[in-house]
Amino acid sequence: MEKLVIKGGRSLDGTVRVNGAKNAILPGMAAVLLDKSGGESVLGNVPRIRDVVLMAEILRSLGAKVSWEGSQLTINTRDLSNYAIPEQLMLEMRSTVFLMGALLARLGQVRISHPGGCAIGTRPIDLHLKGLVALGAQIREQHGFIYATCRRLAGTDIHLDYPSVGATENIMLAAVYASGATVIHNAAKEPEIVDLQNMLNAMGARIRGAGTDQIRIQGVKQLHSVEHAVIPDRIVTGTLMMAAVAAGGDILLEGVVPAHLEAVTAKLRETGAQIREENGRLRIKATERPRAVDTLRTLPYPGFPTDLQAPVMALLTRADGTSVIIENVFDSRFNHVNDLRRMGAQITVDGRTAVVKGVPSLTGAVVTAQDLRAGAALVLAGLAAHGETVVEGLHHLDRGYESLEGDLAQLGAEIKRLDGEVEPS
Ligand code: EPZ
Repeated sequence: MEKLVIKGGRSLDGTVRVNGAKNAILPGMAAVLLDKSGGESVLGNVPRIRDVVLMAEILRSLGAKVSWEGSQLTINTRDLSNYAIPEQLMLEMRSTVFLMGALLARLGQVRISHPGGCAIGTRPIDLHLKGLVALGAQIREQHGFIYATCRRLAGTDIHLDYPSVGATENIMLAAVYASGATVIHNAAKEPEIVDLQNMLNAMGARIRGAGTDQIRIQGVKQLHSVEHAVIPDRIVTGTLMMAAVAAGGDILLEGVVPAHLEAVTAKLRETGAQIREENGRLRIKATERPRAVDTLRTLPYPGFPTDLQAPVMALLTRADGTSVIIENVFDSRFNHVNDLRRMGAQITVDGRTAVVKGVPSLTGAVVTAQDLRAGAALVLAGLAAHGETVVEGLHHLDRGYESLEGDLAQLGAEIKRLDGEVEPS
């Protein structure tokens, strides 16, 4: 089993370019299913991550042709015929749930199994299904599968009980060919939703309002192929910013959109980091031990992103003072706490609240990632710890980071990936 071996105590220095956003490319690949024109769509800035590999496999299983060169995906969905998502692939990745909207709109039917994905809470899909039913879909659940069918989807007003990112995307995709107008109220406002709107409109859709809590989709008859490069990954950007604070140093991040990270930048400045924008690039400088933050609450965008809660906790474990972290988005997203404790962190958890009492230093240990962002947190803790840290469970990390160890090594960290046989020193 592969593992990362990290020798802590090295500060970071240098420049890294951030790859395209996992949470933009996945809905973007679903959007291509709506193209009935038989043309070829080209998606750019595609990160080489496991979730994209899985999504490409799923599209192929549905009849699409998918080829991948470097950071470019070429997809042709002319021969789309299958409406059943392979169960094994579905269970590996929850994001497949927004294929429902696209396949319902394109084929009038879809079969999925109850979604799997990261172990971060119950993660129901009730808001997705409610939205699709509101558009006219009939839903049947049988033998662990969910079947959705519809003759023709009809536009309507949909009020989301919670600004769910996936449910907003699913309804947008389903509504593109619906008759009349659909308005999503209390929609998610994440940058990835804006990116999806821009891509769909470039394919001939008529959508506006993404980035606000009200999105209007005017149904059209036909979409065509598109060339679209997805936005940079703001969670990878935030992870690297936090690595610089955890390890200390002075780094430059290129290919980023600083405006997507305002809540993160504000919070990291509270720890004492100096962060400034230098013509589209982000410069992060941290030379002192980080200061604790009073209270950090994760919230839907533009609040502090839940996907950076684990990484920020990693850097706060060594802060000067006590920080309080409240995880408002998922109902159990503290899978990283036990492993951080093994490294000497002092964290107490009560429901959705974690109290992090900063310690002067962490010590390296053998730790195991329990989910994607917990893995990133353990890497950051290893950078800051005394001695050697071994991080296992890399299949989680590889779902969302093209090469976190490569980026960090480029910035001067002593980190390498070993395959199972070779024992760390
Ligand atoms: C997306 O997940 C992201 N994944 C997640 O990133 C991210 O953490 C999340 O949005 C929040 O920003 C992708 O975009 C592929 P939600 P999603 O629906 O759509 C509850 C990562 O690390 N909910 O906004 O699943 C849900 O249980 C991943 O990159 C319902 O109750 O998030 C959760 O508590 C992790 N019913 C909350 O809403 C529903 O029908 C937010 O979920 C749907 C969601």
